[in-house]
Amino acid sequence: MLLGSGELGKEVTIALQRLGVEVIAVDRYAGAPAHQVAHTAEVIDMMDPVAVRAVIDKHRPRYVLPEIEAIATDALVAVEAEGLAEVIPSAKGVSLTLDREGIRRMADEELGLPTSAYLFADTVEELRAGAYRVGYPCVVKPVMSSSGKGQSVMRSEADVDSAWEIAMTGGRVSSKRVIVERFVDFDYEVTLLTVRAVDPATGELATYFCEPIGHRQSDGDYVESWQPQPMSEIAYGAARSIAARVVSAMGAADQRFSGRGVFGVELFIKGDEVFFSEVSPRPHDTGLVTLATQRLSEFELHARAVLGLPVTTEMRSPGASAVIYGRHDEEAIRFAGVAQALADPQVDLRLFGKPESFATRRMGVAVATGVDTDQARRRAAHAADLVIRWPPTIRFRRHRPGGPDRPPPNPLRRADRDRCSVVRPPVPPQGRRRSRPGSTACGDPSRE
Ligand SMILES: Nc1ncnc2c1ncn2[C@@H]1O[C@H](COP(=O)(O)OP(=O)(O)OP(=O)(O)O)[C@@H](O)[C@H]1O
Ligand SMILES: [Mg+2]
Repeated sequence: MLLGSGELGKEVTIALQRLGVEVIAVDRYAGAPAHQVAHTAEVIDMMDPVAVRAVIDKHRPRYVLPEIEAIATDALVAVEAEGLAEVIPSAKGVSLTLDREGIRRMADEELGLPTSAYLFADTVEELRAGAYRVGYPCVVKPVMSSSGKGQSVMRSEADVDSAWEIAMTGGRVSSKRVIVERFVDFDYEVTLLTVRAVDPATGELATYFCEPIGHRQSDGDYVESWQPQPMSEIAYGAARSIAARVVSAMGAADQRFSGRGVFGVELFIKGDEVFFSEVSPRPHDTGLVTLATQRLSEFELHARAVLGLPVTTEMRSPGASAVIYGRHDEEAIRFAGVAQALADPQVDLRLFGKPESFATRRMGVAVATGVDTDQARRRAAHAADLVIRWPPTIRFRRHRPGGPDRPPPNPLRRADRDRCSVVRPPVPPQGRRRSRPGSTACGDPSRE
């Protein structure tokens, strides 16, 4: 059972199904990407412990795989304790990463990993005092948020009030707590995909590393990623050591095979110095690039690790991924330029089939291989650019040419437009629910 059925969950579902597994996909809205391919789809509020427990009781899955952070983790703790299902990587791992505080405190206080200086604040006054102590510039983030929501950089005390305001309006659920952390002037950042899986040679859990993934973020959300990201030997060694320590702390200590799966360990690198930032106890969005680069994608690795099967993190080719954003707020969108994008044999696409688009929503991704990551990045970015979305034709007619709401010009010829693929959203039985960035009560629309 997947709790969260976004684009990453969809790939995990497909990977599990290829290994003969029955998948139940759960999300808070109907027609989510993994719903479209799973054996069974369920719609619940995943922050509601009663609803989470009820859906697990209804289906009695063998494994529960949370795909998002905003989940009623208490219900998962109980499910694991009662032996109803195995939570991946463990109820402890999911609880620790529910918000930024659990994982940051564990990394710093228990594991002694290098992180940027940080403090937590519950009021604007505490934020002012905290920023003074960690020093400017610093980054403010709601403890319950992802994809950069509610996040801002403070350069001086003059920014405190606005940073507090941004955090209060951009976070998730009703938590008012923020983390203020020293800005790390890093040279580059990486995701080190780290796998905890059974080693067939020993029959015990072992830690495997994928080649480091470099990525570029804009407004806290990933725009493009590439693999491999070159690192100095010292930095790479430190990165692996940090990742190994953090992922081995993600399992329940008293259970032999607890803590299995793929983890996205986010690290900042300056020279040979490596700072731990955060970890996803599941495949990572920047790891979509592995669909093109690795013998087994991060989704296949996750499926195998969960099932106790052998893994290989072998990279087959340098590659890159580039995100295709919605760019429009629309209930149905079309994709165009698909044929043009795929004309390059080194390019592939994943169009997620999300039933509703908004400007900053991730609607798809282009992945590409190349002789090196520079070439692959150019290919992926070009392909993502070619896949142009625009509202259904009927909406075009309503716009006056040159009027204020005119959609962006469509650079394709009419004949090409007519060949485009059309995404027709399944109509949810209980009516459509509009969600916009910053307006969700729980969950994170850009991660669905
Ligand atoms: N202390 C910091 N110093 C410098 N840059 C930072 C710092 N914290 C965050 N960033 C930048 O902001 C990005 C997003 O931060 P972070 O991963 O903490 O937020 P997030 O909301 O969890 O994002 P996501 O969910 O996409 O991982 C980082 O990848 C990095 O580029
Ligand atoms: Mg992050």
